[in-house]
Amino acid sequence: MHNIQLAATQIVQQVLVDGRNLNQVLDESLRRKSVWAPAQRAALQDLSYGTLRFYGQLNAILDLLLHKHMTDNRISYLLLVALYQLQYSRAAQHAVVDHAVRSADILNPKIRGLVNAILRNFLRNQADLLAQAALKPEGRYSHPQWWIDELRAQYGEDVAGGILDAGNGHPPMTLRVNHRRGTTADYLAQLSEQGIAARLIAPDALQLDRAVSVDKLPGFFEGLVSVQDAGAQYAARLLDVHNGMRVLDACAAPGGKAAHILELADVELVALDKDEKRLLRVAENLQRLGLSGTLLTGDAANPAGWWDGKPFERILADVPCSATGVVRRHPDIKWLRRKKDIASFAAQQSEILQSLWALLAQGGLLLYATCSIFKQENQDVIDGFLAKTPEARQVSLPDGQLLPTDQHDGFFYALLQKTA
Ligand SMILES: C[S@@+](CC[C@H](N)C(=O)[O-])C[C@H]1O[C@@H](n2cnc3c(N)ncnc32)[C@H](O)[C@@H]1O
Repeated sequence: MHNIQLAATQIVQQVLVDGRNLNQVLDESLRRKSVWAPAQRAALQDLSYGTLRFYGQLNAILDLLLHKHMTDNRISYLLLVALYQLQYSRAAQHAVVDHAVRSADILNPKIRGLVNAILRNFLRNQADLLAQAALKPEGRYSHPQWWIDELRAQYGEDVAGGILDAGNGHPPMTLRVNHRRGTTADYLAQLSEQGIAARLIAPDALQLDRAVSVDKLPGFFEGLVSVQDAGAQYAARLLDVHNGMRVLDACAAPGGKAAHILELADVELVALDKDEKRLLRVAENLQRLGLSGTLLTGDAANPAGWWDGKPFERILADVPCSATGVVRRHPDIKWLRRKKDIASFAAQQSEILQSLWALLAQGGLLLYATCSIFKQENQDVIDGFLAKTPEARQVSLPDGQLLPTDQHDGFFYALLQKTA
């Protein structure tokens, strides 16, 4: 176990100190550990994700346990990983402590005694320490203080508390059934034959009781289904696409929403993305699902570089955003985002929206989407746009701002129509 602790310590440190993306660092680490068994690989993922998910709380506890400044950062991260295991995993407590001491021996033998003392102190005073850590919002909610303040100002203390707790939960695994290859009822039956329990939660969405790897899903590689959050599945339906329409997905990669649009209607789809590498993932996804569209690399904020001048009847602008609605899938975001990023995303989003508007046909619909829960990136961007665009009308939606729940992540949708 100490190898796994050490690897997780490095991953957590690379995210928190070097500001690196958790998924990427974990992938790199796993590639170097090709001899590890699946259970060890899963444990590394759990330790890295879990420690970052509860970093605010674990760090508050560590502060209470350390009587003076820890001189070796690596040991601090090791202690956070071990505290996560003691608080949240089913690993035997004595084994966690023993292995942490062995890990410390490798990192800095002079501090091994301190590691032992700190972890044993935690076990003796666990309930008290948890209660004390929870007195500070960052320790209670494991989100940065600015983020907590922002949500409280926007939603009030109670709703904000629910959003923050949901952000620390485990996300559901949801599938989107490819209607070109079968119905949700057919696919539910196939899942049931494999002993995979699931239920229908939206027109195309099946939520699994328990996450499984995609190779266990019947027909995944033949394009019967995709993995996609139910909240993300709102987009294609809201866009109200019909056969023969010319549709632009302006920020398309990796192609989840683009594929859904093509599954629902025979449209002429242009899938644009600024990032050429990410656009390859759109190509792979469409190919697996048996769908096709025109893929373009280009900047949505600068159509002169790629647009052929023919208007679109539907545009999806799934703009780059803070991703604050999907933190339970990406807990590193909580610690990598800065307050000032929100304003810079909002400026970028307004620019993209403004540029895309010129490409929309009269009477056409543009769906603006983010996976953010901050209004600066959502309704504020739309209000700013509406104020200077008299021919734009916001169509009212029952669920514009989706907050994270046990059925879906946090998303924002605004549907705009170009009027005469
Ligand atoms: C939220 S993701 C899109 C997710 C995608 N719609 C899906 O459902 O799979 C945002 C995408 O916008 C792309 N992007 C960022 N800025 C862009 C720009 N100025 N023009 C076009 N694409 C951009 C990013 O590369 C990223 O792939």
